[in-house]
Amino acid sequence: MIKNFTSACKFFILVFVFAFVSSTSSAQEISTDPAAIKAGEGIFNANCKSCHKVKEKLVGPALAGVDERAPSIDWIKSFIKNPPGMIASGDAYANNLYKDYKPTMMTAFSSLKDEDIMNVLAYVKAKEAEVPKDDVIKDPVPGGENTEAGGSDLLNLVAIGVVIVLLLLVVTLALLISSLKRFLDQKNLNEEEKEVVHSPITLKSALSSPAFIFIVAFLVAALGFKTVINNLFAIGVQQGYAPKQPIAFSHKIHAGDLEIDCKYCHVGVTKGKSATIPSVNICMNCHNQIKEGAQTGASQIKQITDAYANNEPIKWVRIHNLPDLAYFNHAQHVVVGGVECQTCHGPIQEMEVVKQHSLLTMGWCIDCHRKTDIDTTRNAEYYDKMLKIHAEKKGSKAPFKVEDIGGLECSKCHY
Ligand code: HEC
Ligand code: HEC
Ligand code: HEC
Ligand code: HEC
Ligand code: HEC
Ligand code: HEC
Repeated sequence: MIKNFTSACKFFILVFVFAFVSSTSSAQEISTDPAAIKAGEGIFNANCKSCHKVKEKLVGPALAGVDERAPSIDWIKSFIKNPPGMIASGDAYANNLYKDYKPTMMTAFSSLKDEDIMNVLAYVKAKEAEVPKDDVIKDPVPGGENTEAGGSDLLNLVAIGVVIVLLLLVVTLALLISSLKRFLDQKNLNEEEKEVVHSPITLKSALSSPAFIFIVAFLVAALGFKTVINNLFAIGVQQGYAPKQPIAFSHKIHAGDLEIDCKYCHVGVTKGKSATIPSVNICMNCHNQIKEGAQTGASQIKQITDAYANNEPIKWVRIHNLPDLAYFNHAQHVVVGGVECQTCHGPIQEMEVVKQHSLLTMGWCIDCHRKTDIDTTRNAEYYDKMLKIHAEKKGSKAPFKVEDIGGLECSKCHY
């Protein structure tokens, strides 16, 4: 009885120790769970992004590989919660790091839990493993053909394969026929049978056979059809258009890393129709001081100062361009409608080279006007009367979309 009791105790202690060890070790293990990565991305973007990137140095060091180079995961946790404290405590690693970044000291994140930090590390690990994708398109690509390239390469490969197989078939058939002929020649055939065996299949008879004519006609028609369709879809549609600009201006650096407000440069967006492209004067607010960039050195910024000195405008290549028959107003959308720039222009703050993100067709405008609710709290008096009419017509619970204030009327968008 007592023996049983002690062995049971031993068993439980073992289980307990095992559970403890495995729980602490799994807490130090960087998760690959998508939920953890997602949570980490949120925390990183909200707290760390202004100073850190995963693969490049920004204000602070690149975070890739930090779990291996820092003294331990626990060290990372303590450091993030209180960098000034760690540095002041004389911790060698922290002080070495600080030497490189003086006088910038990382802010303390005392409110972050261990779990939050593990999630950030999970995000960093996942991002580290990501293959860099080529998100910069150097040449104009009308009709979004870039997305199709992979598909048609595959099609070409399949077509070549089919042709090779067909050729092999023809050769085998020819071999079969000649050996059959030899075989039949050895038999005693009468005249009529001999004529059948030796009836000549000439090139001419093959070319004029109905099967051959059908195949050729089909191929020609299919090719023609594909070209027509491709061209139809490409007319006037410039999605993905990303021309090279005279100066390698990067939205990723200015709007992304430096977080300059879009409206600081595109001053027109809140005022009226055009967002406007900034004049050299706006660039000079900063570039009379900043003469060198990390990526391009002095070469690109010199063009700004030269243009300013010579009083010449920079000849930016226009990317977005509606035909003259259509009317689009930025202030209406950004100020009155409260639509974010990125909804229409995509993640501009991540683009080294601006690329047209949306189709900019009439169908694109109409589609959004059908789907988007009007935020009537923004301009209550303005919408009051319209809301009343809407409620009388469709009931007070009916959604109030852009189409309900006339967003589908031809004359609103066409002069
Ligand atoms: C105000 C800018 C700033 C912010 C915000 C910031 N850091 Fe830092 N971070 C730094 C600097 C600068 C260093 C280098 C040490 C120093 O000088 O304090 C650093 C160092 C680190 C290190 C050590 C890197 C190494 O190479 O060993 C880690 C880990 C780290 N930061 C994680 C984070 C995380 C996670 C966040 C967000 C919760 C964050 N940092 C937010 C500026 C920042
Ligand atoms: C420091 C000034 C600056 C800031 C900040 C800035 N831009 Fe720009 N933007 C420019 C310049 C210069 C161009 C013209 C060169 C180019 O296309 O890269 C431009 C071009 C554009 C274009 C393409 C215009 C065309 O030709 O059709 C769009 C769209 C745009 N910016 C949107 C944004 C958005 C959205 C933001 C904020 C996230 C932003 N910009 C922040 C300077 C700026
Ligand atoms: C509802 C969609 C939409 C939103 C939101 C939007 N834009 Fe535009 N943007 C357009 C269209 C469409 C054009 C092309 C206009 C034209 O050719 O007349 C354009 C053109 C531009 C241009 C080229 C110059 C010009 O004015 O024609 C810039 C720069 C620009 N937008 C910046 C911005 C910025 C910055 C914001 C946010 C503050 C913004 N846009 C918000 C749809 C939008
Ligand atoms: C609010 C300040 C500010 C304004 C306005 C501004 N820049 Fe910059 N720009 C910077 C800073 C800071 C850098 C240095 C970033 C770095 O270290 O590379 C920079 C870097 C650059 C670079 C070099 C990028 C590299 O890494 O080599 C170019 C080119 C440039 N800016 C063009 C422009 C143009 C064109 C305008 C006007 C449309 C403009 N900038 C407006 C702050 C500004
Ligand atoms: C991302 C959604 C979105 C897209 C895309 C969009 N719009 Fe709009 N549009 C709105 C919203 C929201 C309003 C309502 C603003 C308000 O509250 O008055 C609006 C209002 C308008 C109005 C005023 C309607 C009225 O009756 O007062 C016009 C004109 C207009 N848009 C033209 C266009 C054109 C032209 C395009 C395409 C080039 C376009 N819009 C693309 C969201 C969009
Ligand atoms: C929300 C804005 C909007 C409304 C409402 C609208 N259009 Fe358009 N329409 C556009 C835009 C933007 C273009 C240019 C887009 C392009 O070239 O693909 C366009 C282009 C056209 C074109 C020229 C097509 C072409 O291939 O060049 C015609 C015709 C046209 N619209 C007729 C109409 C008629 C008729 C109505 C009313 C039933 C109407 N539109 C309502 C925005 C609108």
